[in-house]
Amino acid sequence: MSRRPIVIANWKMNKLPSEVSQYIQYVAPKLVGYPNVDAVLAGQDVLLNTMVMAAKDTSIEIGAENMYWQDKGAYTGETSPRALADLGISKVIIGHSERRNYFRETDEMVNLKTLAALRNGVAPIIAIDEAVQLTSLNDHAHWIVNQVVESLKGVTEQEMSHILLAYEPTAAIGSGQAMTPVDAQKSLRIIRQTVADMFNQDIADRVRILYGGSVKPANAYDLLKQPDIDGVLVGDAALDATTFLELISLAD
Ligand code: G3H
Repeated sequence: MSRRPIVIANWKMNKLPSEVSQYIQYVAPKLVGYPNVDAVLAGQDVLLNTMVMAAKDTSIEIGAENMYWQDKGAYTGETSPRALADLGISKVIIGHSERRNYFRETDEMVNLKTLAALRNGVAPIIAIDEAVQLTSLNDHAHWIVNQVVESLKGVTEQEMSHILLAYEPTAAIGSGQAMTPVDAQKSLRIIRQTVADMFNQDIADRVRILYGGSVKPANAYDLLKQPDIDGVLVGDAALDATTFLELISLAD
């Protein structure tokens, strides 16, 4: 089963509105050389409108970094999935390890957000993390399986075609130390097997799973060569437009 490669830049809370256009104007024309790779830029809410405008008529997809699970209402300061869809946001990162660790997001919240994104036509990129304190291989597998099962509760077989999963071991995020491709592959295999167990092998073969955590041009090719790694979710390295393009070329 060949799955379309995808590179997602997660700008986190780094870029300014005044920096958006230059980045997109640099990247967009060069993407025509890589028609087989999906390029997604995820930014904080205050950037999204500018990002959508700048990416209009290009192949770049714009994603959000978070959202709330209610469609609308009196939830001051939260971001509505309905508003994201209305703005033209196609994807949203849900349950990033920074959300889980700094903002106490639980598996239940991740599940509610996943269902809300699907309901509103925004594709969830569900981040599966791995706590640093896990010691045994059994703990590790159980931790991953549990997050996949909990986050996908209530998702239908049809909706699975809109889901992306991203495995991001906490220790690898922002540390400069990516997981080895072989270890990352093992974890992604567990994730794909869990999807097969929950749904069926065909759905598992189709779902795209990404690795994230200190991805850079020096390690991206070897990671992307692994049979279950369909793409990368990139923080620091993707803040630079040239490096983002390099990662796209390595995924091609
Ligand atoms: O969402 C992206 C990940 O948290 C990875 O960040 O590439 O800076 O390690 P990083």
